[in-house]
Amino acid sequence: MKMEVQSLPAGIANLAQHEQRARETLDPAAWAYLCGAAGRGITERANRAAWESVTLVPRVLASLEGLDTRTQLLGRAMASPLIAAPVAFQQLAHRDAEVGTALAAAAQEAGMVLSQQASTPLEAVADAVAADSRRGPLWLQMYWQADRSAVAALADRARASGYEALVLTVDSTVRSGFHLPAGLVAPNMPAAPAAQDLRSLCAAAPTWHELEWLCANAPLPVIVKGILHPDDARHARACGAAAIVVSNHGGRTLDGAAATATMLPRVAEALDGAVPLLVDGGIRSGTDVLKALALGARAVMIGRPIVWGLTNAGARGVAHVLRLLRDELEIAMAQCGCANLARVHGDLIAPIDASAQSLRNERTT
Ligand SMILES: Cc1cc2nc3c(=O)[nH]c(=O)nc-3n(C[C@H](O)[C@H](O)[C@H](O)COP(=O)(O)O)c2cc1C
Repeated sequence: MKMEVQSLPAGIANLAQHEQRARETLDPAAWAYLCGAAGRGITERANRAAWESVTLVPRVLASLEGLDTRTQLLGRAMASPLIAAPVAFQQLAHRDAEVGTALAAAAQEAGMVLSQQASTPLEAVADAVAADSRRGPLWLQMYWQADRSAVAALADRARASGYEALVLTVDSTVRSGFHLPAGLVAPNMPAAPAAQDLRSLCAAAPTWHELEWLCANAPLPVIVKGILHPDDARHARACGAAAIVVSNHGGRTLDGAAATATMLPRVAEALDGAVPLLVDGGIRSGTDVLKALALGARAVMIGRPIVWGLTNAGARGVAHVLRLLRDELEIAMAQCGCANLARVHGDLIAPIDASAQSLRNERTT
């Protein structure tokens, strides 16, 4: 695929400006699909408000020599703890689509998760970054299929084309109806049965048995995405999950689900470092990233901001979004007295007193 490097429109210097510009550029139906939320948007707003209500207690006079955002995840080095979240149908945002996002993530030495509902074949995305020895990890997100042999075939395809892990999304057995424009294809999805009512979707939904089977039989490590309850995190770990993503799908499934920043510390406590923990939902700044790490995450996934960057300048725009977040993280680390991510601990987070707790409740409702 031939890709032209597009320049960034003038006047975009932060994520809010990326969002504003993308909203002006995308047609309203595409914006509604790509950046919308389920129901009344309660969870989507709660995700953002919860990060805002967490506050940092900076440490002073610490040595900042060798300031560095590098990290390790499942044995892979990354320039920062940033991962492009699985986002379906990126063709809707820009012709560079998922290949553009993968190239941008690779250039920034960040991670990339390809959605099974991508508009590009998974092999084409892997091929685009295969030769880049400095790129971050490349994972394939998948939904459970009623037919185990289809799951196994997809996992084999992923491994053969260079994906390093499977991300099983478990929070969207039943998704609220987004209407996609005609002509969009999902080359990595099985042909959908004609109409699927709630009962048949529920009957085909995976359970812990399926997760256990997948972890035991997949040719790649299995990461479970979409956990909020600490007991579910423990259970997923016991089934063999290699990592867990605290996520509510960016508020696109159950409207009214708890904010991820609220549940992250409880899940972290339950897992006690047994497997790496990731989080997403409403992360919009370097300080949000730092808070997530201080609350127990090893890395964070970024959803809608990737769409904004892609809309505004294709691969170049996604790289800009990832770079802004990394630079902001670096500045926040310096301001908090952390020269590297190993120095980021829970004591960076301000204790919640009664008045802050009531303010937090007010802002998330
Ligand atoms: C347009 C769009 C499509 C998405 N498609 C998928 C998907 O195919 N699979 C999946 O696991 N999550 C999907 N997600 C959820 C993201 O992976 C991620 O959990 C969420 O966007 C994070 O929240 P944020 O957008 O507030 O950063 C999608 C999100 C958006 C915005």
